[in-house]
Amino acid sequence: MADIDGPNAPKQFYSDVPQPSEKFFLKGSNSLDWGMQNRLSRIFNPVSGKTVMLAIDHGYFLGPTAGLERIDVNILPLIPYADTLMITRGALRTMVPPDTQKSIVLRVPGGASILRELSNEDLAVDIEDAIRLNVCAMAVQVYVGSEHEHQTILSMTRMVDMGLRYGIPTLAVTAVGKDMVRDAKYFRLATRICAELGAQYVKTYYIPEGFETVTASCPVPIVIAGGKKLPELDALKMASNAINEGAAGVDMGRNVFQSDAPIAMLQALRAIVHDDETPEKAFDLYTELKNK
Ligand code: R5P
Repeated sequence: MADIDGPNAPKQFYSDVPQPSEKFFLKGSNSLDWGMQNRLSRIFNPVSGKTVMLAIDHGYFLGPTAGLERIDVNILPLIPYADTLMITRGALRTMVPPDTQKSIVLRVPGGASILRELSNEDLAVDIEDAIRLNVCAMAVQVYVGSEHEHQTILSMTRMVDMGLRYGIPTLAVTAVGKDMVRDAKYFRLATRICAELGAQYVKTYYIPEGFETVTASCPVPIVIAGGKKLPELDALKMASNAINEGAAGVDMGRNVFQSDAPIAMLQALRAIVHDDETPEKAFDLYTELKNK
């Protein structure tokens, strides 16, 4: 009880030093709780404010698609080069070593397959399991304008409520149905709905016309999916355009794991996302690393 008896050394309260009260670095995230901000800081790099997510969750409706036949063989070597891994709980538990230091974004919906209507899905993971897995966010697909629009929007809001209870952010993924037009008007609508209903960040596709209006009108960070495999330089140009037009990062799958040199591709993407490199210079880096 040394403090009660009297301190041995004089106390220093630094009464002339104001306690810092800084804003959180991510758009729209100031009022989130500490746990949520901490988890977001493990997805988004606090220095660049951006993220390179590696999406390998396609198997939950597509099965073993090209490049994901063996996650243990094809994907584990890539993990050190991504900021975050977007994955299902089955793949995580069976194939990713639990001593990984990477943050995990857990894909939580399910119930549909490529053989039927894709929008007919629901939440397929309990929040308790997301907590057990120590994930940094939960990803929910939202099908605005599709047959099951209503149920997928409400799945997302249920996840947001559960996430708020435990401090786990929700990533709303705007899925485009087969017949939907992919334009700025559609993505402004879909991303804004997700943000207004509480998603802490949103994933969408890049579009060449008006993408900056999508990022501007969405009050939370946006990351872009890669979509179908493109030639590497084209994928890097897309990432660069998205970043220059307000995206807070990429969440790419096929353009990484279907590349001839996935590790080189991830490093080239990092150069664009975190270091503002031009796509041409990033492509030179890709080529150099690929040929090593
Ligand atoms: C689709 O299965 C998932 O939402 C993927 O995570 C997303 O589409 C990103 O993967 P990709 O870059 O291959 O489109």
